[in-house]
Amino acid sequence: MAEIQLKNIHKRWGSFVGVENFDLTIADQEFLVLLGPSGCGKTTTMRMIAGLEDPTEGDILVDGKRINDLEPKDRDCAMVFQSYALYPNLDVYENIRFPLRMRKVPSSEHKERVMRASAMVELDDFLHRKPAELSGGQRQRVALARAIVRQPNVFLMDEPLSNLDAKLRVSTRAQIKNLSHELKVTTIYVTHDQIEAMTLADRVVVMSAGVVQQVGSPTEIYDNPANTFVASFIGSPAMNLLEGTIEGGTFTGKDVTITGLDSTHSGPITLGYRAEDAAIGGDAPSVNAPVYSMELLGDATMVTFRIGGTIATVKADKEFRAAIGETVAATIPAATCHLFDATTGERL
Ligand SMILES: Nc1ncnc2c1ncn2[C@@H]1O[C@H](COP(=O)(O)OP(=O)(O)O)[C@@H](O)[C@H]1O
Ligand SMILES: [Mg+2]
Repeated sequence: MAEIQLKNIHKRWGSFVGVENFDLTIADQEFLVLLGPSGCGKTTTMRMIAGLEDPTEGDILVDGKRINDLEPKDRDCAMVFQSYALYPNLDVYENIRFPLRMRKVPSSEHKERVMRASAMVELDDFLHRKPAELSGGQRQRVALARAIVRQPNVFLMDEPLSNLDAKLRVSTRAQIKNLSHELKVTTIYVTHDQIEAMTLADRVVVMSAGVVQQVGSPTEIYDNPANTFVASFIGSPAMNLLEGTIEGGTFTGKDVTITGLDSTHSGPITLGYRAEDAAIGGDAPSVNAPVYSMELLGDATMVTFRIGGTIATVKADKEFRAAIGETVAATIPAATCHLFDATTGERL
């Protein structure tokens, strides 16, 4: 059981603000992902929960008890990092067993717990190898098993997949998801990779420059981004953002017109739409412009236009082909558009 409350947490070094007013309750057994670009304060937030960094302001509570003054070793958090930090001279079995020895768990329990943890990450056949004799993916699984074996209250994972190649990242990601489902331990997972966030999280916290931009389920942040930062960070490709003006429900930008918007707003505006919501052709197209680039994705063709100095993408059928420079029409349905304040970037 571990519900974690972060109450108005700030971290400053001199005048530099690393994390500003982080305020969130993480439910027992929740899988929470901190997502944002490098330097936005993800690791700092996690280190404060682990006790490796003191908040400048604010309280951290676990199950209602303030833990600010607890030593890291007394917090019952198991951490997994990008660098595996295994003991090179110990074999896999001893690496996984290490936390049990440190925590003076009765040695009669060790074998069973190590075997259970290693089985969960499919390392049973590698128990007598040294880290140097393992692949990157296997090493990261040793680090995972070493965290699991402790049966901690909280898992903290900081970019654990970053050192793995693309294919291994996908399979290890699935394994982490499955593990968290089985173990039912509150997990805080840090990443700059929005796909990892979307696939793993119960809730995602999107951060920028130390400030939380939005907290929500993957669907909520994908379907209703709170501002242009979140809109341009989530999705592959990210949401297209077009500058223009709106008047009487019609958006007008350079090379693009969208009618029938459900908005009484007038004046400058930022309009967002997702590539998969737009389509090639249409009776009254929003865009009629030369193709800038085409990407074959296998299951679809991504068509790119240059509109008013920005790139705008439309996801077309996989059979669709056009030459670069050829004029192509596309329709952006009004009902799928997102409107943002042109100055603040906040959702309207
Ligand atoms: N000990 C420190 N002293 C001063 N600045 C720091 C310290 N640790 C981190 N920072 C700064 O705080 C910001 C957030 O860092 P970090 O939490 O590591 O970002 P992230 O994990 O999101 O990439 C960065 O600009 C980083 O340089
Ligand atoms: Mg970091």
